[in-house]
Amino acid sequence: MSYPNSMATMSNTLETDLQTLQQEAEKEITAVDSLEALEQLRINYLGKKGKLSQILRGMGKLSAEERPRVGSLANEVKESLQSHLDNQRNSLETAKLKAQLAAETLDVTMPGVSRPLGRLHPLNSTVDRVLDIFVGLGYQVATGPHIETDYYNFEALNIPPDHPARDMQDTFFLTENVLMRTHTSPVQIRYMETHEPPIRIVAPGRVYRRDTVDATHSAVFHQVEILAVDKGLTFTDLKGTIKEFLTQMFGEELPVKFRASYFPFTEPSAEVDVQWKGKWLEVMGCGMVDPNVLKAVGYDPEVYTGFAAGLGIERFAMVLHQIDDIRRLYNSDIRFLSQF
Ligand code: DAH
Repeated sequence: MSYPNSMATMSNTLETDLQTLQQEAEKEITAVDSLEALEQLRINYLGKKGKLSQILRGMGKLSAEERPRVGSLANEVKESLQSHLDNQRNSLETAKLKAQLAAETLDVTMPGVSRPLGRLHPLNSTVDRVLDIFVGLGYQVATGPHIETDYYNFEALNIPPDHPARDMQDTFFLTENVLMRTHTSPVQIRYMETHEPPIRIVAPGRVYRRDTVDATHSAVFHQVEILAVDKGLTFTDLKGTIKEFLTQMFGEELPVKFRASYFPFTEPSAEVDVQWKGKWLEVMGCGMVDPNVLKAVGYDPEVYTGFAAGLGIERFAMVLHQIDDIRRLYNSDIRFLSQF
């Protein structure tokens, strides 16, 4: 057997090599199962130093007639490989997405993770309601220290050292003259000392007494103090203000009774009862500011008059929420607190 020239053998070899390469590559490409491995195959076959380039390097030795034939076969192989690679990439990507979607499926029937919302303690929400009402009436919120001197807690409020009213407000003395305040009334004095009339303040806070704890008593409790001082204020202003406050607090106009009483820092003094659920409930103390109190802060009682009132927050919270024992308000039982 004779060949026209040795180049014929060369071109046949190249063509066989190309066909073998195509078969091998296509088999491998269809079998590959990851995008990374697929990319590696692309580099191995079609990359600059890949197998196809290696075969094509032999083309230089071909004759001018053979070169286009082998060249066009090489192009066909290249295109076919490229399209196999593309197809395989598409199906691998689709499979990957499907797997991801399956893994991330949200089961809306699973029980949720509940995060209970916090809420205000009934004492705080009661204080807030009282303050809201008075702020609505034009009052400003004021506060004072829990540790007081005898002067602010008693003397300036017209309660001299041997006054019997001190017996009802026995407290914790830190030194002979310094004590835990027994009521929020000292805020009246502190505020008037640093301000000039007209004054309208509402002062919430914690107070302390040497009381034995039972269902209605606690050694630590909360009050709100109310004070208005101006020219020409009368008992009518006091009554109107208290009635308006109680109407807003209880949500309706209820029968209100002003019962004559005694407080050293007011003259005249009264206790306020509200008819609620068929009973008279004592809800607060009040009165016209005693001239001696006005004098203690340097106001002229001939020019200014005022009224004051004080109420216990625990008492209001217990009445409004029908709580039977004051101690429930302090022992942080979540089953109790979550009702409000
Ligand atoms: N400070 C009084 C107490 O703790 C309550 C009180 C009564 C306050 C009459 C007042 C008032 O401002 O006018 O028992």
